[in-house]
Amino acid sequence: ESYHTPRQDLQGINILVTAGATREKVDPVRFFTNRSTGKMGYAVAEAAIARGATVTLVSGPAQLPIPNGVNVIPIESAEEMFQAVASKSNEADVIIKAAAVADYRPAQVHEQKMKKLDGNLTLEFVRTKDILRYLGEHKRPQQVLVGFAAETESVESNAMKKIREKNLDLIVANNVSMEGAGFGTDTNIVTLIEQKGVLAALPMLSKREVADRILTEAAKKWREKQT
Ligand code: CTP
Ligand code: CA
Repeated sequence: ESYHTPRQDLQGINILVTAGATREKVDPVRFFTNRSTGKMGYAVAEAAIARGATVTLVSGPAQLPIPNGVNVIPIESAEEMFQAVASKSNEADVIIKAAAVADYRPAQVHEQKMKKLDGNLTLEFVRTKDILRYLGEHKRPQQVLVGFAAETESVESNAMKKIREKNLDLIVANNVSMEGAGFGTDTNIVTLIEQKGVLAALPMLSKREVADRILTEAAKKWREKQT
């Protein structure tokens, strides 16, 4: 791959990125999670640092190297991600929420390992906080908020709904059931959407290339807001 000395066009921009899956504990030996590996978010952090940005990465457990120069805050649960993001969001110019955050967590976290019993087990789940929605509600006028939409159907209309409801500047719509897109792959197929509608339907690209496209559009929006 050939990512040689990119233009330092993001110098002076503070970017907060989230990546990976969250883990929601049910007992000391078990948790609920999802298929996200963190590759997309790490690619965003790597591309941003290469272009001169100041980067904070709030990351769920991931088996990926931490890009040089990135300030990493490791978290496990959605609640921990919320606390970390909320504490850093004020100083961020651009926030890119690539993480696959659990929508639910077990209602009860057992102190001791749950022993198996005869018969079936039913667990109750409760909703986690929607971090992106919170960020949209507390967005500063000069801040740029970028979300992702992981969909398996009606990708564009679902993403349009999310960009409006969460008060985002940009949403990266992702059909996670397509070959060459979604979880664990090194490539992605995304559509970049702004409030007005589709900005760009991108072909299959490396996650690094997708990251650069997202950053270019986000930086453009950020510059527009500074005038
Ligand atoms: N997100 C978040 N906090 C949550 C759930 C999601 O910040 N508790 C963010 C994700 O990081 C992503 C965006 O919201 O940037 C969209 O996530 P997605 O799962 O596609 O959408 P949801 O709003 O959770 O709706 P649903 O899962 O029902 O499609
Ligand atoms: Ca979700």
